[in-house]
Amino acid sequence: MAANANKKLVVLPGDYAGPEVMDQALRVVHWMEKRRAVAFDLDERSIGGASYDEFGTPLTDETLAAAKASDAVLLGAIGGPKYDGLPRESRPEAGLLKLRKEMDLFANLRPVVTFDALLDASSLKPEIVQGLDIMFVRELTSGIYFGEPRGIETLPDGTRRAVDTQVYTEGEIRRVAEVAFDLARKRSNKVHSVEKENVMATGRLWREVVTDLHKEKYQDVELDHMYADNCGMQLVRNPKQFDVIVTDNLFGDLLSDCASMLPGSLGMLPSASLGAPDETGRRLAMYEPIHGSAPDIAGKGVVNPLAAILSFAMLLRYSFDMEDEAALIEQAVQDVLGGGIRTADIMSQGMAKVSTGVMGDALLKQLDKLSG
Ligand code: IPM
Ligand code: MG
Repeated sequence: MAANANKKLVVLPGDYAGPEVMDQALRVVHWMEKRRAVAFDLDERSIGGASYDEFGTPLTDETLAAAKASDAVLLGAIGGPKYDGLPRESRPEAGLLKLRKEMDLFANLRPVVTFDALLDASSLKPEIVQGLDIMFVRELTSGIYFGEPRGIETLPDGTRRAVDTQVYTEGEIRRVAEVAFDLARKRSNKVHSVEKENVMATGRLWREVVTDLHKEKYQDVELDHMYADNCGMQLVRNPKQFDVIVTDNLFGDLLSDCASMLPGSLGMLPSASLGAPDETGRRLAMYEPIHGSAPDIAGKGVVNPLAAILSFAMLLRYSFDMEDEAALIEQAVQDVLGGGIRTADIMSQGMAKVSTGVMGDALLKQLDKLSG
């Protein structure tokens, strides 16, 4: 990619609250174009239920091809009650899982960071969560989400039996662990590798591969192994012991949801899903808020756009190395919250409750202010 070429972004707003939060994130995209030396080609497409409504499938081949050809994908949220009754392969989730798999986005980064202004919104005591900064690295394209055989069969006696398969290769474990160790080096230099080696064969292999890799390449990084159940407990007991947590697809799904409550709101947390870099250093990537499509409150202009906006900040950092711009957005989010405005999900006494759009307005204003 030439230094001054437009960066190709595929924009997938998705369902219910997805387009609402994406509208606000796009305002920040346009702000960057106006105020910084960067230009984007935006290719907006439907995914999930919206794609099903339009094309009869939650992910079209064209959208997949566009995502693969892009520099980065920005996604809102997918799914909702309208689509819950569809067969599995037509459900919005199937579109998202296919996109992750086909783009080979094996490393899912989920930062869990507390915002000082929101300490009271946490269900834990402020001193337990203040200053928290955890990076989850969840394996995203293998494990029980994709393992074969899977399905429900009817036995000779007429009762049914269901099978899911947890499967990992050495290569799959190694590449995601490398991402975790590399990230730790830029942070507090500590990795917790999480599995259930006491029960599962995949857990045994996971521990062996991570231990060998550590010995081979990452001895300068502190490594601890932890059982997944204990990790769940430790996350609410003493979350500040963690820096980087690397774990499989299913444990990562559970533990990151659990951890996402520590800062007080799911509506604040972004994520990045990264592929392997090619020879030129280019890597496929997708950025999305952790929260879902919030069907119960969608369409009313009340959802929190900050996770989508922070996802765009991650996009700038991880896909384009624009650390200053990413940090600028993060600072603006801190400041806006410090100024006392809140969307409904993070509302607390004495604060001013604002709509999705007003939160977006305040953020843009703060970006203007910060950049003089
Ligand atoms: C997530 C979500 C997805 C997952 C669903 C929507 C398929 O919970 O991104 O964590 O289970 O991976
Ligand atoms: Mg989840």
